[in-house]
Amino acid sequence: MKTRTQFFTTPIYYVNAKPHLGHAYTTIAADVATRFKQMDGYDTYFLTGTDEHGDKIVQAARKNNQSPGEYVDKISRLFQDLWPRLNINNDQFIRTTDPEHIQVVQNLLTRIHDRGDIYFSSYEGQYCFGCERFYQDRELKEGKCPDHGVAPSPIKESNYFFKMSKYQNWLIDHIKTNPGFIHPRQYETEILSFLKEPLEDLCISRPKSRLTWGITLPFDENYVTYVWFDALTNYISALGYPDGELFQKFWSSARHFVAKDIIKPHGIYWPIMLKAAGIDIYDGLNVHGFWNVSGSKMSKTVGNVTDPVAVTNQYGVDAFRYFLMREMVFGLDANFTEDVLVSRINSDLANDLGNLFSRVLSMNFQYFKGCVPDMDQNLHSDLCLEKDAQNAINHFHAAMAAYEFSKGVEAVWQFISRMNKYIDVNEPWNLAKEASGRPRLAAVIGNLLEGLRTVACLIYPVMPGTSHKMLTALGQTIPETGFVHLDRMTWGLVQPGTCLEKPDILFPRIDVAKKPAPAAPVFKPALKPRITIDDFARIDLRTGIIRAADKIEKSDKLLRLQVDLGSETRQVVAGIGKHYTPEELVGKQVIVVANLKEATIMGETSQGMILAAGRKKELILAGFDKETLPGCPVK
Ligand code: MSP
Repeated sequence: MKTRTQFFTTPIYYVNAKPHLGHAYTTIAADVATRFKQMDGYDTYFLTGTDEHGDKIVQAARKNNQSPGEYVDKISRLFQDLWPRLNINNDQFIRTTDPEHIQVVQNLLTRIHDRGDIYFSSYEGQYCFGCERFYQDRELKEGKCPDHGVAPSPIKESNYFFKMSKYQNWLIDHIKTNPGFIHPRQYETEILSFLKEPLEDLCISRPKSRLTWGITLPFDENYVTYVWFDALTNYISALGYPDGELFQKFWSSARHFVAKDIIKPHGIYWPIMLKAAGIDIYDGLNVHGFWNVSGSKMSKTVGNVTDPVAVTNQYGVDAFRYFLMREMVFGLDANFTEDVLVSRINSDLANDLGNLFSRVLSMNFQYFKGCVPDMDQNLHSDLCLEKDAQNAINHFHAAMAAYEFSKGVEAVWQFISRMNKYIDVNEPWNLAKEASGRPRLAAVIGNLLEGLRTVACLIYPVMPGTSHKMLTALGQTIPETGFVHLDRMTWGLVQPGTCLEKPDILFPRIDVAKKPAPAAPVFKPALKPRITIDDFARIDLRTGIIRAADKIEKSDKLLRLQVDLGSETRQVVAGIGKHYTPEELVGKQVIVVANLKEATIMGETSQGMILAAGRKKELILAGFDKETLPGCPVK
């Protein structure tokens, strides 16, 4: 029989910031899917990595006073070190600065260029530096980039373009004739509705005068390639395209895991790039929603960027993996809060699963001295849990095969809850009182041990560590592969006569009352002497909107801002250049000290000051939580 193959990928993450909860989720989801497919008999390959070229990375390196090369090495290492800590079992970690990758990108560009689908032309458009791409007017939200909330800058330059428009009808047809190509359904609808409008050709180069940190075009050394063309190609360069064995074996089964933020490059550019190069189209795209933290989008400014290392150090890797898989319905957004995490740990893990496990093993110890009792299945068929276990396996299989991880986990927990009720109904403690109750008691404990074995096998993809702990406690040998194949999950494998130890606690309950409040970092600058309300009233604070911003030459700290105060525009020199790029400031609402005497700073007039909070290392601009008009007095 031909072995079925499955290739899973995560996005390759930008190295402009440390890994956070969102990156952890996608990578854990792909890891869970890989482990599940292995249990289901597939030969799998799992790829993740880092995306290391482009403007954003250069800017981040500059902020850190490092060369791009040094900087990408440092951040990429953080990702590489994180995955084993989260029990991620990737087969490969690719970096877009790897020489083999660079070669494949150039090879692909040459192929598409030779086939006539790349042309040179001049272009004038609205460019968002944050997204590293041009925007069409209809894509902007009130004239601003929908992701960064800033007005894009007008840019004119000659560039290379990829004829995406030529393949628009082909793509629509491909999506419609391959149900599940974009999963779940709502994202397929989103892409198809986007494809109702004419597709613009894609600008795929950046002149080296603007960006050097990228891969040189094979047909024009004055240009580097656009980051997405570089990044998407990782999925085939990692497999050794075109001749690599891995490519031959796995490419046709490729499924990419991404979040909804990057469906356009994956659902539109990537299939068209493959088609234009004459390469088979990947098998599918699995798109999930976004994690918010405590109800808000994760952001440095809000201060809610969740560090997976901190969470797992406090609560454990398996609890974290369980929570993420259980709490997010694949495709929809979800909310992360420590309270919900703790309550899931206490109710689902410590109570439902942990208690069941320790109750059953303790009863086995108490009533049978730890040695698994022999039970007569036929005599006590009313006590048999085999059908319930099979039911759980079937539901689990169907859900996991459809990438519905939360449903898969729920199927196992329904079985756990069935077993907890089974104990309450059959009251083993009463059966143990009379000698005549012993055969039924043996059947009850035997069935429960067997049921726990099924649970231990099924939780493997989500909680591999706990799965192994449980199997070992149940006297099972862990297969060399680390998992039990789904089709070998027959009933009756806990051997009568095997002696089992008293169990360790699987998940200790977290005492909510004792949970220490997270320590706030201590920062105590001395307070200034008090002033009167009249003193304060002399300061004219106004709302302003930054309309333009640029760097002051010879200073890495100072920026020249044009601030709209409603009645007039002021030039303000601000020392925030290490904390904000000019591009991200345009459009921001700020508080201006409007009656400060004019000053000259490094030869530049400064007609006011904007307010910011924090220490030297981390300045955050003071702003508003709703939109205001420029020029309003701030009281
Ligand atoms: N480098 C590109 C991807 C290139 S793939 C050929 C990129 N990198 S990224 O670092 O911004 O990663 C984006 C991905 O990180 C999302 O698609 C998702 O997988 C994950 N997440 C980032 N924030 C997230 C949430 N708040 N919630 C869930 N996942 C999120 O885009």
